Amino acid sequence: MFIISPSVLAADFSKLGEELQNVEAAGAQYIHLDVMDGVFVPNISFGIPVISGIRKSSRAVFDVHLMITDPIRYIDAFINAGADLLTIHYESCENPREVVRAIKTKGVKAAVAIKPATPTEVLYPLLGELDMALIMTVEPGFGGQKLIPETVKKVRKLREYAEQNGIEIDIQADGGITADNLSELVNAGANVIVAGSAIFRAENPSKVIAQMRRIAEAQKK
Ligand code: DX5
Ligand code: ZN
Repeated sequence: MFIISPSVLAADFSKLGEELQNVEAAGAQYIHLDVMDGVFVPNISFGIPVISGIRKSSRAVFDVHLMITDPIRYIDAFINAGADLLTIHYESCENPREVVRAIKTKGVKAAVAIKPATPTEVLYPLLGELDMALIMTVEPGFGGQKLIPETVKKVRKLREYAEQNGIEIDIQADGGITADNLSELVNAGANVIVAGSAIFRAENPSKVIAQMRRIAEAQKK
């Protein structure tokens, strides 16, 4: 299934509840929440109180992207705040498998993300335990960057590996995605698409979501 996950990082923080309601009404099934600690990435965004605050104004799946060091420390707190899907970075901890298991034990979906320079192969041994894998299409830390073209090959490689091994998994792509480059990503095998600036900075976010869905549907084989 094709899923659009608008990244709140590019939304207007003075009216977050309203922003979320608009994108949900336009058909976004997930809401992407980028948590940054200023250590794992050189930026600080928002955390637990903001997520539990907006939980009340949204019914969408909360797709929480943790760009924090040693995420295991905060798994329970993010689940209690309302996360439905927790993504940790492969590079942020010693033992990603242990963190994935800790998340799944709580009945929440788990994903592992890799940065553009991290080889796709590191995900292979984990895939069977994951609900989703996230291929970063920009360097994590900031919204509004340009997609790094080589990362599209990583998406294709991962989808091929999963198919060859009979593994059903969502593949998320995140960073620099617009209506102009969406078709390459969907064609490569990504089915969960994060878009921040392309949606929230558009004059008409609902129109962009509808357009993205049309583009993705057209790619279906
Ligand atoms: C970057 C974040 C992304 C970002 C996407 O570290 O993980 O989710 O908000 O924003 P755009 O779509 O503007 O690149
Ligand atoms: Zn993200």
